[in-house]
Amino acid sequence: MAPESGLTKFYKLSLNERRQVLKEKAGLTEEEMKVLGAGLDLATAERMIENVVGMTQVPIGIATNFRINGRDYLVPMAIEEPSVVAAASHAAKLALPTGGFKATSSRPVMRGQMQVLDVKDLEEAKRRVLEVKEELIGRANRFADMLPSLGGGVLDITAKVVGPPRDGMLIVEFFVDCKDAMGANTIITIVEGMAPEIEGITGGRSLLKIISNLATERTAKATVTYRSDVIGGERVVDGIAKAYKFAVYDPYRAATHNKGIMNGITAITLATANDTRAVEAGAHAYASMSGKYLPLSSWRKDEKGDLVGELELPLALGTFGGATRTHPVAQLCLKILGVKTATELAEVACAVGLAQNFAALRAMVTEGIKRGHMELHARNIAIMAGATGDLVDKVAEILAKEGNVKVSRAKEILQSLK
Ligand code: MEV
Repeated sequence: MAPESGLTKFYKLSLNERRQVLKEKAGLTEEEMKVLGAGLDLATAERMIENVVGMTQVPIGIATNFRINGRDYLVPMAIEEPSVVAAASHAAKLALPTGGFKATSSRPVMRGQMQVLDVKDLEEAKRRVLEVKEELIGRANRFADMLPSLGGGVLDITAKVVGPPRDGMLIVEFFVDCKDAMGANTIITIVEGMAPEIEGITGGRSLLKIISNLATERTAKATVTYRSDVIGGERVVDGIAKAYKFAVYDPYRAATHNKGIMNGITAITLATANDTRAVEAGAHAYASMSGKYLPLSSWRKDEKGDLVGELELPLALGTFGGATRTHPVAQLCLKILGVKTATELAEVACAVGLAQNFAALRAMVTEGIKRGHMELHARNIAIMAGATGDLVDKVAEILAKEGNVKVSRAKEILQSLK
């Protein structure tokens, strides 16, 4: 049973109170709360990469109010940038009157690529690979570990010729259902394992054998409708639709538009110790699939005058294996999310990306980004100056109004209010 996501005034609680609420809602133990606060330990870090000398930390915040496919989620986001968690939570809240987000995902199929060089007749080699494809799939599955027994494994093999005639090469591709793993290790094992066989069939020499991060077979899609009266009326709906068009017409805007989406997606990717670079590479390459770099999401006004948003992108996220398994905090983030499968995780991440995108666009077409940032920053400064309870908002309001957001000034205001 997922925890209810609408934690009342979660952001107004003190850090300790917030942690207590989370502990109860997500069913975390005292020990797990300690791990969540302390982060990764050096001994585990030492097992993860080479030449370890220390660690860096980023905060984990919980995005609230997320209802996706009728289920409520508390979403852990690991990010150094202020406002992102608050913006996602607010955008999720505004989506509640229409039932929140709907999300779907494809089967978690990744593509492994083998580059074959020095082939005399490329088209003939391609034909020969395809001719014995069914046998090759069977043999490739011997390298797929447990996947076939879990209903995954190698599903298909294709071959293509790429490059100009004087520099042509054969590319053999393996499509693998990776189930709940991100799949990079398995894919590499399969493609490397199959190299001698493919070389034998084609008479060529294999060079690169690697996963493709442009995971077009492993996508997630989220949609949402924001009621016009809930988000500020026609002016906001039309503003967001026009802001979207700006990103369609201009790649310089599309990059920033997509960065806003990835603020949400990368934060979940990092919180669950998934490969942020793989997801980012896939997203931006997908945005360019038409030959032009485009926004990953779209926004339009529907016949009722409400705002409809849609986001689709490749999302190679795992809930099993790799760093996700080794990292104790990633394990806790998965527990807080309560997702059962990698595809469910991708659906949540996609919905959060869409919410994040909406929040940024709405801020920009209304009050601008700076005001919201300033208010949140002022709250943090008020807390740093020692404000608690209602005083946090009172001090923050004065700081933001004065535009002088400093701890020393916050202390003075606090003193005068006490
Ligand atoms: C900042 O981290 C993200 C935004 O720039 C996104 C956007 O412009 O859409 C606000």
